[in-house]
Amino acid sequence: MTGTVAVVGSFNVDHVWRVDALPVPGATLAGSYSTGPGGKGFNQAVAARRSGAATVFVCALGNDAGAHQARALCDTDGIELHAARADAPTGTAGIYVDAKGTNTIVIGAGANAALDPAFACKALAGADGPRVVLAQLETPMETVAAVLAWAMASGALAVLNPAPANADVPVRLLECTGVLTPNETEFAALLATHGIADIAPDRVPALDDARLHAWCRALLPRGTVVITLGAAGCFVSHPDTDAKGDACAAYRVPAPSARVVDTTGAGDAFSGSLCSSLARTPVAPFRTHVEFATAYAARSTEAFGAALAMPRT
Ligand code: RIB
Repeated sequence: MTGTVAVVGSFNVDHVWRVDALPVPGATLAGSYSTGPGGKGFNQAVAARRSGAATVFVCALGNDAGAHQARALCDTDGIELHAARADAPTGTAGIYVDAKGTNTIVIGAGANAALDPAFACKALAGADGPRVVLAQLETPMETVAAVLAWAMASGALAVLNPAPANADVPVRLLECTGVLTPNETEFAALLATHGIADIAPDRVPALDDARLHAWCRALLPRGTVVITLGAAGCFVSHPDTDAKGDACAAYRVPAPSARVVDTTGAGDAFSGSLCSSLARTPVAPFRTHVEFATAYAARSTEAFGAALAMPRT
């Protein structure tokens, strides 16, 4: 097994409007427009690579300018690309970013919806023994499930970033997950889906650690949950005992301050760099991986854009 991260997920061409305030229904706004590479999968692959890990990216692309852009960027960044050719346009996203760096995103899945389990698992089998396999939810659920099951069967660490929030995440998928990295919205959605709790996302950061830990344990009994909380850092919940039988704990990791211009892709920066750290130095304490990823994600918010905002370490 090598210190490689394999990311299976989406590539999107992001169409971005910077506006003073996010649009409300019926509004027509003036904003400045730009376009750039994105997609949660690609952003995470770029973060993993730029934070130091050998990286494989498995995705589906159309036959268009977006696909050429994805190939060129993988070449430039040294990411090993395995792309299925889809009979659909490459994925797109429309993004509004306000003056505080907050965003609203609409996705057109396009080719991402055509990434099938057989292609993804074959690509993983052809990669150089990845130590960590990372997936999100912008590709079909059966593909995500197959990829996580492949990781578990091959002895790799299976990491799931359950984004965007999706009510249909099945238990069998969580059963294959070693590390889960939701933000507060995704965490609240998972709690509701699995009948654990009904909580408003904005209440999650202020909840006491004991309650969060209990809910994390109910959601992922044998795995680690890292809830990302934006500027408040993150909350970590380990299984009650680790592999050596030692008692484990729940704890918070604060985020360093940042001059935020754009939070788009900050969660991707976190998951990608967390996996990079886990793959490169697997024996280090988990908390050090989380500290590394928290700092990396904070830096990613200081530049505009998604994949291209990922810092180089
Ligand atoms: O997480 C940010 C990403 O979400 C954007 O790059 C957009 O493409 C959507 O996938």
